[in-house]
Amino acid sequence: MKKIAVCGKGGVGKTTIAALLAYCLAEQGREVYAIDGDVNPTLAEALGFPAETVAEIRPIVDMAELVEERTGAKRGQYGTYFKTNPRVKDIPERFSRTINHIHFLMMGALRGAEQGCACAENAMLKALVTHLILKEKETVIMDMVAGTEHLGRGTAKGVDALFLVVEPGSRSLKVARDIARMAETMGVKRRYLIGNKIRAPDDEQFLKNELGAAAFAGFFPAHQDVIAAERRGIALYEYSPPMREIITKIVQNLEPAVQGL
Ligand SMILES: Nc1ncnc2c1ncn2[C@@H]1O[C@H](COP(=O)(O)OP(=O)(O)OP(=O)(O)O)[C@@H](O)[C@H]1O
Ligand SMILES: [Mg+2]
Repeated sequence: MKKIAVCGKGGVGKTTIAALLAYCLAEQGREVYAIDGDVNPTLAEALGFPAETVAEIRPIVDMAELVEERTGAKRGQYGTYFKTNPRVKDIPERFSRTINHIHFLMMGALRGAEQGCACAENAMLKALVTHLILKEKETVIMDMVAGTEHLGRGTAKGVDALFLVVEPGSRSLKVARDIARMAETMGVKRRYLIGNKIRAPDDEQFLKNELGAAAFAGFFPAHQDVIAAERRGIALYEYSPPMREIITKIVQNLEPAVQGL
């Protein structure tokens, strides 16, 4: 499993879990590329980058010359033809910021109105996921935009596995089902459900009843450490032994798949 996308409804814990996963795989000796694919990027903070560094990070889409050079499209020229297959091989090396063997890339950030369509930038993200050739022991983890829209654009096409985060409410289940259906059509066979913000045994049972116990790779409790780590600007994996233990178990159980690719 080399390319993993973390998906789900807004606010379910995608970024939190993507960061835990990145730390866990990095600690196991993998070279991890963590990509924030959200237009409201927060993964850098979750990975524990200091605020000064976060402020300096330029999203790939803001490197207008780069996007232009690679895709042939000029920002704001609606209807411009752009290459759907831009060259992306050197991007991780040139533009990532590294923390604890995790190489971080931020695709975009919300822009003002009337700044043109984001087709060229989306083409970059899609190309990055599809065409990055990873060496042995390299893994890409993408923290995706909430919901299903990105799947509609095909950004998850080159992904080996989806981590689908759900919380014990019926709304996140609907989104998870929609995502799973779209992923199926796109040929993403490995789909792991993660239950998050579990407050009582009932919550876990509810999710298992709704989606099938076998589909779950694991469950995270609603835990005060998540907010505490966030406030202190420390990566949750480093701050919280209980959360670290849960992600480690989840990854251990996926081990054959991780090793196999
Ligand atoms: N297990 C948990 N226990 C307590 N709080 C949690 C837990 N998981 C996530 N949270 C909190 O819920 C909020 C949303 O989490 P997070 O940003 O990871 O979700 P997201 O799915 O990435 O959201 P978005 O859709 O906005 O990108 C955060 O404030 C986070 O601290
Ligand atoms: Mg997020």
